Formats: sequence, C-alpha cells, structure tokens
Amino acid sequence: MTGEDIVLRKKLTRFDLQKMKEEGRRAVWMTAYDFVTAQLAEEAGMDMLLVGDSLGMAVYGYSGTVPVTMDQCIYHCEAVRRAAANTFIIGDMPFGSYQVGIEDACRNAVRFHKEAGVDCIKLEGGVRVAPVIRAIADGGMLVMGHIGLTPQSSGAQGGFRAQGRTAESARAIIEDARAVYAAGAFSMLVEGVPPEVTAMIRREVPIPVYGIGAGDCDGQVMICSDILGLFQAFTPKFVKRYGDVADAYRKVFAAYIDDVRGGTFPGEEHVYRMVAGEADKLAG
Ligand code: KIV
Repeated sequence: MTGEDIVLRKKLTRFDLQKMKEEGRRAVWMTAYDFVTAQLAEEAGMDMLLVGDSLGMAVYGYSGTVPVTMDQCIYHCEAVRRAAANTFIIGDMPFGSYQVGIEDACRNAVRFHKEAGVDCIKLEGGVRVAPVIRAIADGGMLVMGHIGLTPQSSGAQGGFRAQGRTAESARAIIEDARAVYAAGAFSMLVEGVPPEVTAMIRREVPIPVYGIGAGDCDGQVMICSDILGLFQAFTPKFVKRYGDVADAYRKVFAAYIDDVRGGTFPGEEHVYRMVAGEADKLAG
C-alpha cells in the first residue's frame, strides 16, 4: 500500500462489502483489541476489524469468552475506533448481552454504536436468535450473524469442536444461515465447518459469507494473536501463523534484563544532562 492509498482510503460500507462479494474480491479482516494493533492493521490495508469477545482469552486470560462483559467490549472498541477511523469496525456482542431479552439486546447494540462508534455488531446463533437479529436490524443497525462453531455456546456444542460434520448437523447449520439472512443480517461469519457446508450456505444466501475454519469464503477473519504467533495456550487447526512474535518478545525481554543487570543500560545516550554550569552551582 502506498502513502497515497492511505490518504485516499475511505471506510468500507455494507454496499462495498456486497459488491466485493459479487465481484469475487475476498475481504480480509482480523481481530484487534488495542490502539497500536488497530493502527498498524489500518495502515496495512485490512478491510475490517473485529473487536471480538476472544479478547477474554487473548487479553484477559480467561479460559473462554463467557465471562467477557459489555463494558470490556466497549472499552476495547473505543480504543480500536480511535486508532482506525477509516476501517469498518465490528463490535462483538458478549455472552449475556443478547440472551436475556430483545429489549436488552437492542439496548446493548445501541451502546456499541453510541459509546464506541462501531459500524456493525456481530452475534452468535441462527434460528434461535433470529428475532433478536430482526429487532436490532429494524432499529437501523447492521448485524453480522455468526453460525457453526459458536464459542459462547461451546458447552452446549460439547466443546470447541467443528460443527456440521454429519448430514444432520450440516442441515441445521444451513437452516441457521437461512434464518440469519431472513432476519435481516447484512452478512454472516461461519466458524469451524467443512468447506462443503460453507459452499452450500453460499449458494443459499446472497449476502457475504465470511469464514474462520470454514474453507474458502467471501472473506476470512483470523484472531490477531494467532496469526502473529503470540497466543501460546493452543492453536486451532485452521490457524496459519505468519510470524513468531512470542519469540521476538522473549528475545527483547531477555536482552533488556541482561542489559540492566549487566549495567549496560541506561547508557550515556539515554540520560538527561544538567544545563552547562548548573552542576557546579549544585555542588557549591
Ligand atoms: O471473538 C472472536 O474473535 C470471534 C472469532 C471467531 C473471529 O468471533
């Protein structure tokens, strides 16, 4: 990307994303939870950024996404929005923010927009959340569905495991895709399903179908700390690591410790000297 591209770049709209799908241009996006990452992602030309509830694991060290709160999501969305003013940002509705009732779900979707300036919200589930999607979309907000492996309900799904591997389970996911589309979602994310099932979904619905662990789609999302090689706890099969940033961290931390303990940091170039003559006055 050239300097000129960066200056001329404008934030994508739902219509741009739809056009990209129709022209066979894949959208590339990833999660971001903090200012610096979002700034670098925008500079690199990422099409969208998701402030995912995966921040529960990636930032807070929880074992899953269930404990993540609305306030945590809003704080991180605010930081990402400040860093990436020209990028389409997706706020992820955390567990508990849309399960209690439709009115509560709409109120939380509104919070994402008013307090954090997101461009759309994403929520997990198909047939069972269709009335919630309908209500939020009727409120004039863009909704991205999320079907297949849905981490917030991993307990009900028997763990973090691929979905749609039997004909019966695949049929249920395709039914979910139809319901998400019919309820007014402008796009959907399909997670952890075989590519054959993804291909059927793409034939069923005319909106963009994005994937993570779902084969070829209208675009891909990855978790930032996974592609960086920073998240250490586990690496799902569908992740491709593009770097070993954890190793870079280790090397930097070890070198810093060595320097301080060995007295080579701070050096002359890292200190502030007194104004000429002032040290003498102090001594006198
Ligand atoms: O929270 C998240 O990061 C997600 C991923 C599956 C993309 O929803």
